[in-house]
Amino acid sequence: APVTNLTQLSEDYFEKEVTVIARVDNARMQSAKLAFVMLRQQGKKAQAVIAAVGPISRQMVKWTGAINLNSVVQVTGIVKKPAVPISSATLSHLEIHIEKVYIIAEAAQQIPMQVKDAEKPAPVGGSLEEEPQFDTDGTPIATLKTRLDNRVIDLQTETSQAITWISSGVAQLFAEYMLKSGARWIFSSKLTGSSTEGGSEVFEVKYFKRTAYLAQSPQLHKQICIAGDMNSVFEIGPVFRAEESNTHRHLTEFTGLDFEMTFRHHYHEVLGFAENLLVFILSELKGRYETEIAVIQKSYPKAGDFKLPKDGKALRLNYMDGVTLLKEAGVDVSEQEKFENDFTTAMEKQLGQIIREKYDTDFYVLDKFPMAVRPFYTKPDPEDPRLSNSYDFFMRGEEIMSGAQRIHDANELEASMVAKGVDPKTEGFEDYLAAFRQGCPPHAGGGLGLNRIVMFFLGLPNIRLATLFPRDPQRLRP
Ligand code: 4AD
Repeated sequence: APVTNLTQLSEDYFEKEVTVIARVDNARMQSAKLAFVMLRQQGKKAQAVIAAVGPISRQMVKWTGAINLNSVVQVTGIVKKPAVPISSATLSHLEIHIEKVYIIAEAAQQIPMQVKDAEKPAPVGGSLEEEPQFDTDGTPIATLKTRLDNRVIDLQTETSQAITWISSGVAQLFAEYMLKSGARWIFSSKLTGSSTEGGSEVFEVKYFKRTAYLAQSPQLHKQICIAGDMNSVFEIGPVFRAEESNTHRHLTEFTGLDFEMTFRHHYHEVLGFAENLLVFILSELKGRYETEIAVIQKSYPKAGDFKLPKDGKALRLNYMDGVTLLKEAGVDVSEQEKFENDFTTAMEKQLGQIIREKYDTDFYVLDKFPMAVRPFYTKPDPEDPRLSNSYDFFMRGEEIMSGAQRIHDANELEASMVAKGVDPKTEGFEDYLAAFRQGCPPHAGGGLGLNRIVMFFLGLPNIRLATLFPRDPQRLRP
């Protein structure tokens, strides 16, 4: 018989015979003659019932009621209207009366943990995988560590699946917007001869008889493309960071959404473009992913409850305005006032709170960061060289993007490298500089962390929950 998709069953199938392939969410004996099997497919659940009447033996009922949870079964039966709606099923208005049932793939009997969809966000700071999580009624459930160690079972929950679809949604919306703007999609190499951001946070790889590095960003390659007359480029790809940061928002590998483009008069053309890009992604997510957001809200109530500025434009402030707002709130920002230090995570979050109260938005942009806290390729502010033509984007008070106008003059770039302690003679940097010696138009761009966008849009307490197979200093599996 042709197999019907469980998720498509409806009243149209009443009194018809169907065959479905699905997972057993739950199986139980009601009596010696009656068993219930909850079937599940992509988060949708439908109840099947088997009774010892006619050709079906008590033995068959008993066997069905004892099928291991999570096994994949093929069920043939008649779709009927139940006497009362089945509240525990998603398809509560129908029931499958089993005629035949086979196990297609049996799940191991000992399930190492109980995966539950409903769970409270981890306590504040929730960075550690070991923190116990609690169900809404207070019962402890799997820790994040248990969930990630048993990711295949965790992925079967409707919450994990919905989060995964939101992630692909962010990538799709980013690509849509970039392509519509005329940007070209590039795929740069992740094996490089030097670090790309300067600094030591880079993974070494044995590369035949020498050492290569995993790219910390597509920064150098995307700029070489601009020097190569490509005008506007973007990329979606893995980014590697050898940072020993065990926090709720750092991974050693994440998905980067990068773009780089030329401008005519002022880098604010690019900044404005990036602001509109983010407003597009965040508002389209709400519209296109209502179903997924509703599923995730059952476990993470802040999911999708994300405030954008009412006028549909992004809120843009200068870094120094942020310093002033924090100072007014009594925060010690003396280091920041000296243009030497970036905001700490705590300051970022507090500023996010202040801005939310004052401007009623969870998304905003800070422009003009101090040059001291930005990488060598950043263009200093021509009006005040202590500052730079660079910007960060924030969601719920945490950074999701950084970007800048770049130095496009080869000599200025070389001097900036030297000033920042980056050796222009290193393989990789030499080629990069050589590209600029061919003449390169003024350009700007940015890099977004996809996992962070998902995390903050959904109000998840930990970036690992927004990542299919997270990698951090401790975790290399599954
Ligand atoms: O701020 P970052 O390091 O900037 C760059 O890589 C530049 N090349 C971007 C540019 O075009 N100028 O990284 C960009 C974004 C951050 O804003 C953050 O969202 C994310 O990448 N990110 C991380 N996400 C998860 N784990 C980490 N360890 C991250 N480090 C940065």
